[in-house]
Amino acid sequence: MITFDHVTKYYKTNIGLNDVSLHIDRGEFVFLVGPSGAGKSTLIKLILKEIDADSGSILVNGREVTKLTSRLIPAHRRNVGIVFQDFRLLEHKTVYENVAFAMEITHQKRREIKERVPAVLGLMGIEEYVKKYPSELSAGEQQRVAIARAIINAPDVLIADEPTGNLDPDTAWEIMRLLEMINEKGTTVLMVTHAKDIVDRMNKRVISLENGQITGDAVGSYETKNAEENKEEAEGGEEEEEFVFDWTSGGLD
Ligand SMILES: Nc1ncnc2c1ncn2[C@@H]1O[C@H](COP(=O)(O)OP(=O)(O)OP(=O)(O)O)[C@@H](O)[C@H]1O
Ligand SMILES: [Mg+2]
Repeated sequence: MITFDHVTKYYKTNIGLNDVSLHIDRGEFVFLVGPSGAGKSTLIKLILKEIDADSGSILVNGREVTKLTSRLIPAHRRNVGIVFQDFRLLEHKTVYENVAFAMEITHQKRREIKERVPAVLGLMGIEEYVKKYPSELSAGEQQRVAIARAIINAPDVLIADEPTGNLDPDTAWEIMRLLEMINEKGTTVLMVTHAKDIVDRMNKRVISLENGQITGDAVGSYETKNAEENKEEAEGGEEEEEFVFDWTSGGLD
């Protein structure tokens, strides 16, 4: 689904990504973590072809993104839904219009739009807000609208850049449940986050970036290093910490 092969991107002398290779399969749910400046947004911008790599190959759904001509970029971006920390809804449009707009710009039939928009808003649990404006909604409700917009054209990949960054913990978990549901319906999900507790409890694949390079790639927690290192540590018989599940911090179900 997404393959980076020796991808390097410099911003003049700043490292964006340095020789990154990775593969994400169709249907995976992957967290992308790492400190500020690690290269997470750079990786996303390269997938969307908002910026160009200096070298290497980037395949998304079988297409070589680095070679896309400007004529083919809109179709490529339609196939990659994106959600941001700050929602980025159109303030002068209603909830319905915000989501419908994403279908209108792809020239879809009116009848199709009228059917699909309420259905997806229903899936996000916000069908009663069709006539409201973003400013009339809570942060969590706005993020649901943004997710509806991102998936309305049934993209193969949904990218979320810190989608829970502006939300309280309970609302953040509601959004995680929606992303998980979307993933279970077959969409590949790539989520950038600093939310250690969410990553630790979701138990999904975690790719760690640091200084433009991959420093970890394994299923498990935010702190997980790569699978080989984990294995070495386990075999080395180092003291293992007792695993204690924290029942008090709420809200998995
Ligand atoms: N337009 C730019 N011009 C120059 N340097 C840039 C530009 N965009 C990013 N960088 C640099 O590239 C590196 C990676 O930045 P990137 O935005 O990918 O980090 P990030 O992991 O998304 O960080 P954050 O968690 O703060 O969002 C940083 O050193 C950053 O300063
Ligand atoms: Mg970023």
